[in-house]
Amino acid sequence: MTTPALTLQGFPESAPQARRLAAALAIPFSEIAARRFPDGESLVRVGDAAETVILYRSLDDPNAKLVELMLAASALRDAGARRLVLVAPYLCYMRQDAAFHAGEAVSQQIIGRFLDGLVDGVVTVDPHLHRTHSLAAVFPTARAVAVSAADMLATRLRDKGLAGDAVIVGPDSESRQWVEAVAAPLGLDVLVGAKLRAGDRDVTIEIPGIERIAGRPAVLVDDVISSGATLAESARLLRTAGAASVDVMAVHMLAPAPALAMLKAAGVGAIESADSVPHDTNTVTLAPLLADAVRDVLDGLD
Ligand code: R5P
Repeated sequence: MTTPALTLQGFPESAPQARRLAAALAIPFSEIAARRFPDGESLVRVGDAAETVILYRSLDDPNAKLVELMLAASALRDAGARRLVLVAPYLCYMRQDAAFHAGEAVSQQIIGRFLDGLVDGVVTVDPHLHRTHSLAAVFPTARAVAVSAADMLATRLRDKGLAGDAVIVGPDSESRQWVEAVAAPLGLDVLVGAKLRAGDRDVTIEIPGIERIAGRPAVLVDDVISSGATLAESARLLRTAGAASVDVMAVHMLAPAPALAMLKAAGVGAIESADSVPHDTNTVTLAPLLADAVRDVLDGLD
């Protein structure tokens, strides 16, 4: 039997997303079996190795996932895979890009180098690289490509029939790139706030020009929603300023159910996200975008 040239293997928690990517690439998919022993260790069993294997795993809630990824990559190499390309639509540990206090680990570099040693290529979506200007600084040897979901979020809002007087709102300066990229193709007005973070769930936000929202629909756009504190505070401000409605659209939705309840309590209506992280709020499938990025990475590999 000849070894297939290219297959995609993915972990159980994101099997539907991985299957959609395999379908977009017209390649076979198989699910990696991962089981936790009572002591917390993992047993990983990969499928047959192709010459090139696309490994799909989004790295939200990442600690155990990283170890299992290492085991899977190693098993695939042992089984004869010559090239491994990691598709991690959400790339973990990118926010800690500096030691903010003495002794802190610079997780972005450490995790980047760990993944760099496992695979030959990486595809990700909107990595949180605000002070690091290029993914190449995170992955010194692997061919790494980052794509943005902003156009697909804009398409979703257009398909929903968003009103022409709607305003796309970002909670902080870091969100400006997504806010502008979503608003521009729709020809919508934007507002961008300034955020002061005192703790994981303690943020203060000011939105200059917020009086413009009175009587108009607002759509809060951000790259990541984690505790929900940032957008809950933004929604409260927008409601107080008279917004007709406040909806939320995010690339990476990490928020657990209580965080969604907090957003609702703050006056948020629809909450939607891309499927970079499997979540009940997913309405935007990134498979076509990821397929193009995978082709791009494969073109650049030996
Ligand atoms: C920060 O730079 C990010 O873009 C998000 O605004 C932040 O991660 C959201 O976190 P949380 O939902 O915990 O407020």
